[in-house]
Amino acid sequence: MRGPAAAGFSVLTAFLLCGPLLCAAARSQQHNDRPIIGVLAQENLSDDQFARGSSYIAASYVKFLESAGARVAPIRINRTEEEYIKIFNSINGLLLPGGDVDIQTSQFSRAARIFYNLALKANDAGDYFPIWGTCQGFQQLSVLTARKNLLTLTKTKAVALPLILTPAAQSSRLFRSFPRDVLQSLANENITSNFHSWSLSIQNYTRNAKLKRFYRVLSTNSDGEKEFISTMEAYRYPFYAVQWHPEKSPFEWIDKPGMVHTVSAVRISFYTGSFFVSEALKSQHRFSNAAEEDRALIYNFSPVYRGLNAIFIQNYYFD
Ligand SMILES: *[C@@H]1O[C@H](CO)[C@@H](O)[C@H](O)[C@H]1NC(C)=O
Ligand SMILES: *[C@@H]1O[C@H](CO)[C@@H](O)[C@H](O)[C@H]1NC(C)=O
Ligand SMILES: *[C@@H]1O[C@H](CO)[C@@H](O)[C@H](O)[C@H]1NC(C)=O
Ligand SMILES: *[C@@H]1O[C@H](CO)[C@@H](O)[C@H](O)[C@H]1NC(C)=O
Repeated sequence: MRGPAAAGFSVLTAFLLCGPLLCAAARSQQHNDRPIIGVLAQENLSDDQFARGSSYIAASYVKFLESAGARVAPIRINRTEEEYIKIFNSINGLLLPGGDVDIQTSQFSRAARIFYNLALKANDAGDYFPIWGTCQGFQQLSVLTARKNLLTLTKTKAVALPLILTPAAQSSRLFRSFPRDVLQSLANENITSNFHSWSLSIQNYTRNAKLKRFYRVLSTNSDGEKEFISTMEAYRYPFYAVQWHPEKSPFEWIDKPGMVHTVSAVRISFYTGSFFVSEALKSQHRFSNAAEEDRALIYNFSPVYRGLNAIFIQNYYFD
């Protein structure tokens, strides 16, 4: 059933009958229950005294995926396009984390663009490949889709907000998988952690045809002056973006406003991660052999403890 010929046939059938999203259900009996999700590294922060190498991944993103049933492969920056293509064909989804790099000129943005274009092409051909963007990852996706930076400054650094859900949220792929009480907490309690200076305003989203055609807005928020998009999903692709931080509640411990560790905040983190992992289960990509898979996994690296007052309590570092 799972040989290359069968897979090729199902991909072709899927493409002819319905396209990537609608065919997920049809192909669900082929679920891959050993998903591996790539997490993209980014340039080290220049003032990071713990840095050991040129790039890092905050361990909270790794734990977020691991706690929902996925394994993680770090994706290093500054690699050749050929290398990225090979990784793309081996992993079942991509997470673009938060951070602080230039989303138009960094090596992070270069790798994100290569994977984004590969994912567009793959999904168009019925080869399901989900992408998740958190905070900077959300912003990066908006730049990739709009092909320009439409972000604006907001006062949203270190504040926990309740999501203002749009009418589309109830029937969205992302939120319809949440238990009703979890969705109610999201809408009523100040539990989504916001740690961003830049936002995609409703105004700029609405005025940009590329963004408007591509993403369905699931929630908004305001800093008191500007309304911005806090959650969105692509209409025709399994791409998801949150401006808030589902991985912080269970896994980051800096004592700052905006950090929330309540039971409901931690449950939201789990359901968010679980949703994305369920999307990765629909991808049939795999490493060509066990040795390659082994070498690619995050278990080959050890996170560094950076102290309770660090914005990221543990980081993985790469050369
Ligand atoms: C982190 O990156 C900067 C360049 O952005 C570099 O100068 C510095 O040496 C790096 N830190 C480590 C520990 O490699
Ligand atoms: C990697 O970084 C070096 C130094 O910045 C640069 O010269 C080189 O072109 C980069 N390679 C790739 C594949 O981006
Ligand atoms: C819209 O995007 C531009 C950049 O193209 C930015 O300068 C401006 O502040 C944005 N306006 C709003 C309201 O988001
Ligand atoms: C809770 O959220 C509201 C927006 O609904 C915001 O105005 C307020 O500042 C938040 N409160 C705290 C303590 O973060």
